[in-house]
Amino acid sequence: MKPGKTVSLLWGLRSFCASHGCRYCYFGTVAEHSVQMPTQLGVLSHLSPNDLTTEQVLAFAGTLADSPVGRVFLAGGEPLLWRPIIKLIEILKTDGLEVVVCTSGVALNRADLCDQLIELGVDAVSVSLDSADPVHNDQWRPPRREGDGWKAVVSGISALLEARGPAPRPKVGIYSVITARNLTDIIAVPELAVALGCDYAVPQPIALDPGHKLVKALSLTPEHAPELRQHFDELYAAELPLVLPERAYARQVASAVTKPTDLVPGCFGGDTLFFVQPDGTVWDCPSGLKIAATAPERHRTIKDTAARDLFPAPTGCGADCSLFSVDCVNMWPLTGFPVLSPTGAEVHRA
Ligand SMILES: C[S@@+](CC[C@H](N)C(=O)[O-])C[C@H]1O[C@@H](n2cnc3c(N)ncnc32)[C@H](O)[C@@H]1O
Ligand code: SF4
Repeated sequence: MKPGKTVSLLWGLRSFCASHGCRYCYFGTVAEHSVQMPTQLGVLSHLSPNDLTTEQVLAFAGTLADSPVGRVFLAGGEPLLWRPIIKLIEILKTDGLEVVVCTSGVALNRADLCDQLIELGVDAVSVSLDSADPVHNDQWRPPRREGDGWKAVVSGISALLEARGPAPRPKVGIYSVITARNLTDIIAVPELAVALGCDYAVPQPIALDPGHKLVKALSLTPEHAPELRQHFDELYAAELPLVLPERAYARQVASAVTKPTDLVPGCFGGDTLFFVQPDGTVWDCPSGLKIAATAPERHRTIKDTAARDLFPAPTGCGADCSLFSVDCVNMWPLTGFPVLSPTGAEVHRA
């Protein structure tokens, strides 16, 4: 990032996801929310009627240049199925921001879309794929349309890599959700990423509310910690030609599954990282625990607001947070985002 532009935003652009119906998704499931919509502020739903308008999204984007925000992660729902994303990326790139698109990957099978992402200068594309095993992946990340499962995601990754060719950007990586049922994918998915020619891989632990119906089936518990450590050790020892999260992240993942909460002195949340939801609300961190603990006077929105009024210049040391958990450990690889910040990264690629 450029000097003075040290804040990152994780921006959930749209609530709806026409791509997949992932059973553990942070946005809940359409089936459950068709019966009962969550009403609490900060709780996401694919069926939310409160997403900002395109005009509101683009107006806010136009204010980012005059703020400390230097990197924006565009997520969802599924951002690549929302057509105005192209105009949004154009604004962000024209204003010199780094843009990382987080996608289910199916839309990358459109050659015109890959070409646009490359021409616009998108810096990285993170594609979600949970497993090297298509059956496991499609069981927990079922596509909404037949034919949009594991195979289509892998072909989308390959299509983007082929369209990019030897150009340095966008970097292309795979994010995989690690649960009690696919611990070996901590290494198997990065190996697949190498075989496909990707630049980075990030295994991320599943985070579910204690009341979620899949907690028993999928959540990582203290009993999984030794196996988690072992697979992360194997991953780093393999020295794959790939950028991985820093090693400290692996230790944090194991620690997050052993203790429900812990203290983080000087957390980046609310200092160098913020989370924006599709309805425009701004949070210091996407953790449900942190959102629930946010005082009403700190409830903010990007609606009709300029970025410089929301994000002051970071101090480099945020407030202490006692809510470190499996719900926020996934934010660590976003803060440095080693594939775009080579110093201090676990870069094994020559
Ligand atoms: C909410 S999705 C939005 C972007 C896009 N639709 C996608 O799937 O990549 C962002 C990331 O969060 C991950 N994710 C969703 N629910 C999760 C959960 N309960 N725990 C951990 N990761 C989760 C997804 O697999 C994906 O990598
Ligand atoms: S593709 Fe992304 S947004 Fe859609 S259901 Fe899966 S994790 Fe959620």
